[in-house]
Amino acid sequence: MGFKVSALLSAFMLTYLLTAVVFTSAPTCQGKDSTRSPKESCGIWHQDVSNIQEPYPMSLVVSNPYSTPVNLTFTTDIAYRGILLGAMRKIQEKNQNFTFTTEENPDYGPFLVSVNGVPGSAANHTYWELLVTLLNGTTFRPDVGVGCYIPNPHDTVILKYSTWKHEEASTVL
Ligand SMILES: *[C@@H]1O[C@H](CO)[C@@H](O)[C@H](O)[C@H]1NC(C)=O
Ligand SMILES: *[C@@H]1O[C@H](CO)[C@@H](O)[C@H](O)[C@H]1NC(C)=O
Ligand SMILES: *[C@@H]1O[C@H](CO)[C@@H](O)[C@H](O)[C@H]1NC(C)=O
Ligand SMILES: *[C@@H]1O[C@H](CO)[C@@H](O)[C@H](O)[C@H]1NC(C)=O
Repeated sequence: MGFKVSALLSAFMLTYLLTAVVFTSAPTCQGKDSTRSPKESCGIWHQDVSNIQEPYPMSLVVSNPYSTPVNLTFTTDIAYRGILLGAMRKIQEKNQNFTFTTEENPDYGPFLVSVNGVPGSAANHTYWELLVTLLNGTTFRPDVGVGCYIPNPHDTVILKYSTWKHEEASTVL
């Protein structure tokens, strides 16, 4: 239920994010709506350790319209309730065709800076957009970054090299 609300909000945010809220890379741990469900929050409670379940599969698509091929797809297992950043590190360790860098924000944790050697650039109005396609085909933009997003089983996470158009976008973080 909470997740549904969050997903709807994210879908709604898709329509105005590029005009109003702005970032030069994927958002960080700072959720943009305070109603997001615990499902999208970081970490596990100490007590949860006894409830750890099996890892589950997910896919990662790197989508850059200026690369050939445009899309590179990777698959990995992700730890039960593990964060996206952990899955990305696993893929990077095993696959020469996937590298990424993050920067640590002291307040909000890691945010995505570059993928496969291509950095987002405030000057060029480019950034790596984080999108998720659920098993049922719905695509949304998580309101948290790679350090906080907790993939669902069979999620397809898309890192999409994107541009924004509006000047005011560059003024906020
Ligand atoms: C897919 O699942 C999400 C989360 O449960 C839900 O919000 C969305 O409406 C579903 N989409 C479709 C097409 O069923
Ligand atoms: C690349 O992947 C994205 C997301 O899955 C998809 O929407 C797009 O059609 C794909 N593009 C190509 C050229 O395969
Ligand atoms: C890396 O990409 C190249 C070209 O797309 C492909 O031929 C090669 O098999 C890929 N290597 C791995 C380990 O995925
Ligand atoms: C910005 O765009 C210019 C011109 O397309 C390009 O040469 C440069 O590498 C880009 N810089 C970054 C950091 O992407």
